[in-house]
Amino acid sequence: MLGGKKIIVGVTGSIAAYKAAILVRELIREGAEVRVLMTPLAKQFITPLTLATLSRHPILVEFFDPESGQWNSHVSLGEWADALVVAPATANTIAKMATGVADNLLLTTYLSARCPVFVAPAMDLDMYAHPTTRYNLDSLKSYGCRIIEPASGELASGLSGKGRMEEPAAIARAVSDYFARRRSLQGRTLLVTAGPTIEPIDPVRYISNHSSGKMGYALAEELRDRGADVILVTGRTALPIPDGMQALEVTTADEMYAASLHVFERCDGAVMCAAVADYTPVSVADRKIKKESEVRSIELRPTRDIAAAIGEIKGPRLLVGFALETDHGLEHAEDKLERKNMDMIVLNSLDDPGAGFGVDTNRVTILHRDGRRNAFGLKNKRAVASDIADEIEAFWKKEE
Ligand code: PMT
Repeated sequence: MLGGKKIIVGVTGSIAAYKAAILVRELIREGAEVRVLMTPLAKQFITPLTLATLSRHPILVEFFDPESGQWNSHVSLGEWADALVVAPATANTIAKMATGVADNLLLTTYLSARCPVFVAPAMDLDMYAHPTTRYNLDSLKSYGCRIIEPASGELASGLSGKGRMEEPAAIARAVSDYFARRRSLQGRTLLVTAGPTIEPIDPVRYISNHSSGKMGYALAEELRDRGADVILVTGRTALPIPDGMQALEVTTADEMYAASLHVFERCDGAVMCAAVADYTPVSVADRKIKKESEVRSIELRPTRDIAAAIGEIKGPRLLVGFALETDHGLEHAEDKLERKNMDMIVLNSLDDPGAGFGVDTNRVTILHRDGRRNAFGLKNKRAVASDIADEIEAFWKKEE
């Protein structure tokens, strides 16, 4: 599964460093080219000779070779790699990765890398459970790192609990599954709407909502990473447009409608995550409405429903909607699913702490047309996006 993939294995100073040798062998057996970066302390736990022999490349530890003066460029290493796997990752390295400390070659390479990063923690159970470590791991997750959870079992301290680095075969599997998934939506073109719409009242004021775009952008990235061609139609957000996709930036519900309908012509499906205004002012004042003016109310007209319009023309193509509710979530979501002719709808509720607008996490239930319902726990938005992408894949597999 890893044929031709270039992988950096980053080894840090943990007793589990000996397992890095098996990991390197597993990755090479799967067809990857592997280069090993070690922190200076890691050399106390496993010899560079062992890892150099297994990886068939010299081991990199320092920024430059003191004998020859040869510079080890972290930038080129970061560009070279298709994946960086830090295994074992100590609490110390995790903390440095989370805060941007760059005091060794592995850390500078991590900061320069544009590839997916896998982190396999290894530490004592109390260190793993400590709020600081939890916080640092959550930060890494929010930066897009994939954490390979440690297993429970006997630890070097003699204690038993969670903190044992996952077995090398499981780490290699996580990496190869990632690349296998990358191809799973190849050949599909998907429209994703994200963010809020803004409906101007006058040049100063507007009607909008709290959507940050985080959920829609996470979805767009997840679908892109599975090989889909993503066209993102986005309202104004503070987020950078993700790489590797076409993006159309819009402001109002009318603009989002026009862009989405235009783009949908060449799509195999649409995922409607945007929080679109249901009403917009009938007229927009061309000058700032003065406090002293007689205006006490604003006349509104309904906007056109983008999801419903796509539902009418989609035929066998896929339509995934969202429902943001505050009460009677399942009933409202079911109603929208039917009314807008969606294939599935993702329900999230503002009643759930940590779900909905602005936050990095969400808790969703996915409802299907055939009555199936899948409820998921609170997760970061990228993990929620992965659950939704799994259901999209399953939908198309069933159709084939
Ligand atoms: O952006 P974040 O801060 O990460 O927050 C994410 C989110 C809460 C915005 C997102 O998870 C979400 O729930 N998006 C849909 C919000 C919404 O407008 O829901 P709704 O129940 O009002 O609309 C139902 C569906 O119809 C949605 O798919 C919506 O995109 C679509 N719709 C609604 C109105 C309209 N005029 N056109 C539409 O396409």
